Amino acid sequence: MRMYDMIMKKRNGLALSKEEIDFMITGYTKGDIPDYQMAAFLMAVYFKGMNEEETINLTMAMAHSGDVIDLSAIEGLKADKHSTGGVGDKTSLVLGPMVAACGVPVAKMSGRGLGHTGGTIDKLESFPGFSTALTNEEFIGNVNRIGMAIIGQTADLAPADKKLYALRDVTATVDNMSLIASSIMSKKLAAGSDVIVLDVKTGSGAFMKREDDAVALAREMVKIGTGAGRETVAIISDMDQPLGFAVGNALEVKEAIDTLNGEGSRELLELCLTLGSYMVFCTKHAESVERARDMLMKTIEDKSALRKLAEFVEAQGGDANAVYDTSLLPKASIVMEIKAEEDGFIEKIETDEIGMVSLILGGGRETKESEIDLSVGVVLHKKISDAVKVGETIATMYGNDLEKLQQAKERFMSALTFSKTPVTKNRFIKWIITANGTTKY
Ligand code: URA
Repeated sequence: MRMYDMIMKKRNGLALSKEEIDFMITGYTKGDIPDYQMAAFLMAVYFKGMNEEETINLTMAMAHSGDVIDLSAIEGLKADKHSTGGVGDKTSLVLGPMVAACGVPVAKMSGRGLGHTGGTIDKLESFPGFSTALTNEEFIGNVNRIGMAIIGQTADLAPADKKLYALRDVTATVDNMSLIASSIMSKKLAAGSDVIVLDVKTGSGAFMKREDDAVALAREMVKIGTGAGRETVAIISDMDQPLGFAVGNALEVKEAIDTLNGEGSRELLELCLTLGSYMVFCTKHAESVERARDMLMKTIEDKSALRKLAEFVEAQGGDANAVYDTSLLPKASIVMEIKAEEDGFIEKIETDEIGMVSLILGGGRETKESEIDLSVGVVLHKKISDAVKVGETIATMYGNDLEKLQQAKERFMSALTFSKTPVTKNRFIKWIITANGTTKY
């Protein structure tokens, strides 16, 4: 087999066989196929696409290009959740303890991430002493003992995807549905869970800006997961404004704790109840999705999810006192209030720009080597459709550098559009996609 022939075949709009895709991914991972040939192939895929069978074969080849995690030492069905990412997305910090408190084993691999805030691991490091450097035995042992553990992503999980994604990033070939779906699903399949629940975001702060693209991506991923024998469900949720109120690492941890105390954002809780109900139902811990939702709500009312978070933080070396006293979390030295300059209603929020506010303050990484300031960020007090009066506080910014705060404030103000007349809110949960079909929520 020759890579040249596969490039030619795809360029001419023909489908590749499983053997050809396996040959290509194995050769590229080993370094036998050079970047320039793979770049040409990716561009051919961008223009000619891949059919369903090719997409599944590509996903499976990438999933098996490195370690495939074996979770069989953990009893029962395991569920994993993946978000396509957004601004203020602290869902895992709330959802993990909620489903674990319902008896679902949470054995999660998370990343640090580039961008406006850190990933789940960075956020968790707001608990002094918290570490994800667990051995495999500790990881499995913690899940069996307390129901929840999170480790950092190993370098060898789907290495073909890592290499391909870096190449797509510099060759303008990221935004192809088959390539995105196979990239995300290869990592999820390699991570070993039986049930995969996907949170696909859409809106101004999401990867998929348009709702129909988000639905198409979700359908493709559900097909791949189901085809690989994993029960897969996708929820399409709104990212036309930040999720909840806080954007920034320790600030998001505080909001997650407030939510577990029953005092957080209603939308964040709604998202966790929706995603969680499929995790609990599909792992057979409830006889229906509705019953699963009731069980999850109970973990908030009786505080069992909050206690589960404390147990999990302590088991990974963190100071669990901070779960009950959030003043122990990292704190910024300067607090700046942002006031409304006119009366009206918030009509639109450029959500990516709110992410930039956090990045400017030091809450995210511009390069892999950047240090993160866990204490900084912004908390919104008003969101889309809320009425504001001139002089009223619409957000509070937390920083450690006055110059950066000034710059962030300007960026924040230009991200908001006001209307003189009342504005209606978007639906928050938009669609639920299962192997049996797509339901408008
Ligand atoms: N996230 C991924 O992991 N892969 C993509 O291709 C896009 C987003």
